[in-house]
Amino acid sequence: MILAFESSCDESAIALFDEKGSLISEWIQSQISRHAEYGGVVPDLAVGEHLLNFFPLLELADEKYDLQYRVSSIAVTCGPGLIGCLGMGLSISKTLGLLWDIPVWGVNHLRGHAFSPFMALDFESYSDWQRFLPHLGLLASGGNTILFKLTEERYLEILAQTVDDAAGEAFDKGAKLMGIPYPGGAELEKHAKNGNPNAFAFPRAFSNKSDMKFSFSGLKTSLLYALKNMNEKQISDSFDDLCASYQAAAVDQLSVKTSQALEHAQYKSIGLSGGVANNERLRESLGEIAKKNKIFFLPAPKAHCGDNAAMIAHASLVDKQGLWPNHEQNLTFQPTLSLDQLPGTSF
Ligand code: KG4
Repeated sequence: MILAFESSCDESAIALFDEKGSLISEWIQSQISRHAEYGGVVPDLAVGEHLLNFFPLLELADEKYDLQYRVSSIAVTCGPGLIGCLGMGLSISKTLGLLWDIPVWGVNHLRGHAFSPFMALDFESYSDWQRFLPHLGLLASGGNTILFKLTEERYLEILAQTVDDAAGEAFDKGAKLMGIPYPGGAELEKHAKNGNPNAFAFPRAFSNKSDMKFSFSGLKTSLLYALKNMNEKQISDSFDDLCASYQAAAVDQLSVKTSQALEHAQYKSIGLSGGVANNERLRESLGEIAKKNKIFFLPAPKAHCGDNAAMIAHASLVDKQGLWPNHEQNLTFQPTLSLDQLPGTSF
């Protein structure tokens, strides 16, 4: 079995995969409640939480699966992420690798997200991927917003990225302005369901198709000014409309850029991954675009949109089968790793 570790931010997670690529089981401990009172992730607190969380998670897995005798390799997130947090997962992985005398594979967290829409496919029939390629992927999370192409040769090309806030960050900052506690994306969506998305005209940045980039900071500022011009009663009366209009602006920007990328080249599928992929409106919108273009829509399963270790085990297998093995015992953290880079040994 492959034992995978994910500790790039505020999720302590482990997963067991068989070597053919099927998920056996996973254990995840979210730290959200610990960070909520500070309105965001506190790096030092997150490191301490990982230290507390991983050993009980490993005990649970060991009780059931006798890890020492059944795990043949370890996959661990090397980056991007918070240095101390990445260091926790790497230290545990490397120690276990040494103790059990098995290889430790470094994994790019963003490739974990990017490949997660393919996780439901049978890994034995890896050639199955071919009918979905070239693939246009949208990765939208709390730290990243990336539109990318996965070519027929499974080469990964970045097409567009955010120049400021990430989509999830925009949801969280908008929610915070509305008085919704961190991380507010999911809660903002609940209010948006009851509101009118056309009640307020919030901006959609870079609407021109030659501008292949995202921007969300202007959206947040425009909500701030809208709220400044309203009194408490007006805000409370229009609460759901504000959330719906804000969400519509964010989802529109993501959808418009995805549609524009389809005009630039031919694709056989659209993928959606990352925490923001939980958003129903975004899933519907990209699903409609895929239908209109008569191509497959592959949203990551909701259980694997947020940070998780199953996607790390999966990505390690994908990279190995794509002939990009990266097994290095002197692996270290790489906090600024980009989607199109593989983990190396330098910091
Ligand atoms: O992928 P993820 O778990 O963590 C990162 O690696 O960043 O993504 C977390 C982000 C948060 O910003 C959260 O508010 C957002 O995903 N999110 C949502 C929804 N559920 C989670 N944003 C919009 N609508 C949702 N339903």
